[in-house]
Amino acid sequence: MAHLLQIDASPRSERSHSRRLTHEFTSAWLVANPQGQHTYRDLGIQPVPLVDEAWIASAFTPPAERSPEMHAALRLSDELIDELLAADTLVFGVPMYNFGLSAGFKAYIDQIVRVGRTFSYPGFEGLAKGKRAVVMVAAGQEYSEGAPMAAMDYVTPYLRTVLGFVGITDVTFIAVATNAGEETLARTLESARASVQAVAARATVGSAT
Ligand SMILES: Cc1cc2nc3c(=O)[nH]c(=O)nc-3n(C[C@H](O)[C@H](O)[C@H](O)COP(=O)(O)O)c2cc1C
Repeated sequence: MAHLLQIDASPRSERSHSRRLTHEFTSAWLVANPQGQHTYRDLGIQPVPLVDEAWIASAFTPPAERSPEMHAALRLSDELIDELLAADTLVFGVPMYNFGLSAGFKAYIDQIVRVGRTFSYPGFEGLAKGKRAVVMVAAGQEYSEGAPMAAMDYVTPYLRTVLGFVGITDVTFIAVATNAGEETLARTLESARASVQAVAARATVGSAT
C-alpha cells in the first residue's frame, strides 16, 4: 500500500508557506492514492530534542550490548526511523533560516541519520532506499539557478547530500520565495503549486525507484 509521511517543520501555523504546500501535496497525493496511508508529524508544534551525550553513546554501541537506559535514549530516534522506513513517499516542509535548515528540521535529521539503521558502517551504504522525497523549501528570497543569491542556499545542497547518504536519492525540491515582493511570491507560488500537483499525481505506489 502506498504510504506517505508528511513532516512540517515551520514554527508558524497559518502563515507558513511550507506548511501550506505540504498540505496541498498531501491532498493531491490522497486523490492519486485513495487507499494510501498517511502519517503526519509536526516538528513545528512538537520539536524533537537535540542529540545529547547519552544518545551518542547509545547509537554507537552495538544493539546487543545496549543497556535498558541506552535503549531508552534511542526510543524516539527509533520511532522516527521506523516511521521513515515505513513510508515510500516523503514530503517535508522546510523553512530556510539563516541560509540553512531551521534548527527544528536539523534536529530531526540528526535523529534519523543513524549507523545500522539508516546507513551502514563500514561502507557507508544508505539503508533507506526505494523512497521518493519531495521537499517544500520556503525562503524569504529566491535561490533558484541564476538568481543573485543562489550560492547562499545551503538547504538544497545539504538535504540532497544527507538524504542521499541514507539512500534517498529521488528528491524533488519545490521552492517558494515569500518575502521578496508580491510579484515574486505570486510567481514562485504559482510555479510551486503546479509542481506540487504534478509530482503528487506521479507519486503513486510502486513508482519510486
Ligand atoms: C529566524 C529566521 C531566519 C530567516 N533566514 C532567512 C534566510 O537566511 N534567507 C531567506 O531567504 N529567508 C530567511 N527567512 C525567511 C523565511 O525563510 C521565510 O519567512 C519562510 O517563508 C519561512 O517558512 P514558513 O513560511 O514555512 O514559515 C528567515 C526567517 C526567520 C524567522
